[in-house]
Amino acid sequence: MRARVRAYYEASAVLWPRVRLSYASKANGTLAVLAVMSAEGCWIDVASEGELRAALSAGIPAERCCMHGNNKSAAEIELALDEGIGEIVADNFEELSLLATAPSFQPNSRVLLRLAPGVDPKTHDKISTGQAETKFGFPIGDTADAAVRYCINSGLPLAGFHCHVGSQLLDPTAQVEGARAIAQFAVEMKRDHGFETQVLNLGGGLGVRYTDEEPMSIQDYCTMLIGAVKPVLREGGLEPELVQEPGRSLVAEAGTTLYTVGTVKTMAGTRYVVVDGGLGDNPRPALYGAKYALVHIPAEPRDASEPGPRTTVAGRHCETDTLFPQAILPADVQPGDLIQVLTTGAYASSMASNYNRYPRPATVLIRESGRVELVQRRETIEEMLDREIVPEDLLV
Ligand code: LLP
Repeated sequence: MRARVRAYYEASAVLWPRVRLSYASKANGTLAVLAVMSAEGCWIDVASEGELRAALSAGIPAERCCMHGNNKSAAEIELALDEGIGEIVADNFEELSLLATAPSFQPNSRVLLRLAPGVDPKTHDKISTGQAETKFGFPIGDTADAAVRYCINSGLPLAGFHCHVGSQLLDPTAQVEGARAIAQFAVEMKRDHGFETQVLNLGGGLGVRYTDEEPMSIQDYCTMLIGAVKPVLREGGLEPELVQEPGRSLVAEAGTTLYTVGTVKTMAGTRYVVVDGGLGDNPRPALYGAKYALVHIPAEPRDASEPGPRTTVAGRHCETDTLFPQAILPADVQPGDLIQVLTTGAYASSMASNYNRYPRPATVLIRESGRVELVQRRETIEEMLDREIVPEDLLV
């Protein structure tokens, strides 16, 4: 994780005078992870009250947090402003109106506008957010100009613009087009309204390797992205701080999930290896058809066996929760063996649920020294049941 943050900073800092990373905490909001990111110089991108409170609990001051969300409640906005949030990214006119009438606005809190640049990223539909018909932000060429005028007229501390076009992008064309579009928009706002952009947030989205993908290196990606906005900003006489907001590319490959095999059986020619997890701890295969690389670890050292037949690794939930179809695992996989799943650092723990009332798993952090530390203990059944109320007349 640390190496990846440093790679972003090293690649960006030589290209532009003021650069910053804001870690998208939705990718993995474990407090220890937030603390590592903050120690490496990242701000924290939060998208809800819960994510903001998590950052505060990890000791990160609100002034180093940036709040997103496309339907922030009045209470969320109030909390963010009370705490002195560094940046709040407005998505729509209702939010602007809440901000304009908010009782407390600390001097350090600034507003950004989320823009929809109208570019279509080539990724899974569920994680595409930049296209013209997206639900996010003010579309450039439509309401974006009015949103800037609204901020100026109501005296909001507008500092700049943000866009995020999609996630797990292996071809950076969409981010480059989105970044160029918001830079161009910033230049137009200077020309048309005399508004000088101080912050330009180019979003996240860089893809990672799950199986055989070949994502761009962080170095090449930053060179391409910043290279695209640089001439536009220079020509327009703007020198904002350039922010990037990666999530997955900072944490995905740092994470790994360990399952224990419970049973192995063959059903109508398909071998099933059933593990002690599934949809509840990683919904990505079910949601997006996501694929992962697996490593088999025998419970006791034994001689390597031949590759077995095509195998389906299934979870323990009460539906067909195929975790990994067509897995290649040895012939002698046995109950008690471990299956290690690579690249699960992003959007697994943060998207986990209690389906079938399984408690969510623990997380350990492996330190630079090799020391292993528990940073999230296993959830307990008591915690799960704690918020339930059975009306008294229904109690038997
Ligand atoms: N900024 C904003 C405003 C975002 O909405 C996101 C991700 C990011 C930054 C970070 O994007 P990243 O660098 O991680 O691609 N659950 C899905 C991914 C959803 C991404 C949502 N937004 C998955 O498991 O693939």
